[in-house]
Amino acid sequence: MRRKKRLTLILSATNNNPRSDIMTIEDVRIIELPKFTDPRGNLSFVEQLNHIPFEIKRTYWIYDVPGGEARGGHVFRQNQEFIVALSGAFDVVVDDGENRKKFTLNRSYYGLYVPAGLWREMENFSTNSLALEFGSIHYDVNDYIRDYDEFLKLKRNGEI
Ligand code: TYD
Repeated sequence: MRRKKRLTLILSATNNNPRSDIMTIEDVRIIELPKFTDPRGNLSFVEQLNHIPFEIKRTYWIYDVPGGEARGGHVFRQNQEFIVALSGAFDVVVDDGENRKKFTLNRSYYGLYVPAGLWREMENFSTNSLALEFGSIHYDVNDYIRDYDEFLKLKRNGEI
């Protein structure tokens, strides 16, 4: 009994509890970035493990999106994301299998942190918007779940 209790404590301290990394839309959050306003033009920045709560392994951007277009309907199994609307506006819809929430990004000094394991879509892009995305892992096609029903099944089984 004593041993079991000690083991539980170690597991929670090292975050190795297999269920402790199950995320919900409550874990998605807008992070306000530093903003240096200047008549010559404003400046903002991000730092990994500071404003972005993970080590950045990848940066990509989505551009030349026709107005009103949508993309990115999928789950990342492991990849965490930090999304900034560098220009224009778009919505990021996140879904944990039970609840769905829409975040509108339309300022270049706000970032949206999206943990792994959530369904997410990007939609309602304004013409000439520019989405900058930071990821916590390198590109891996096997990290994607593109089928919403498969996502729900994995969620129900506690596999994601
Ligand atoms: P994808 O993430 O599938 O876009 P969406 O979910 O919006 O449809 O990316 C589109 C293509 O870009 C995909 O075929 C693979 C490629 N890609 C990379 O090679 N590296 C990357 O980091 C990303 C994000 C995409």
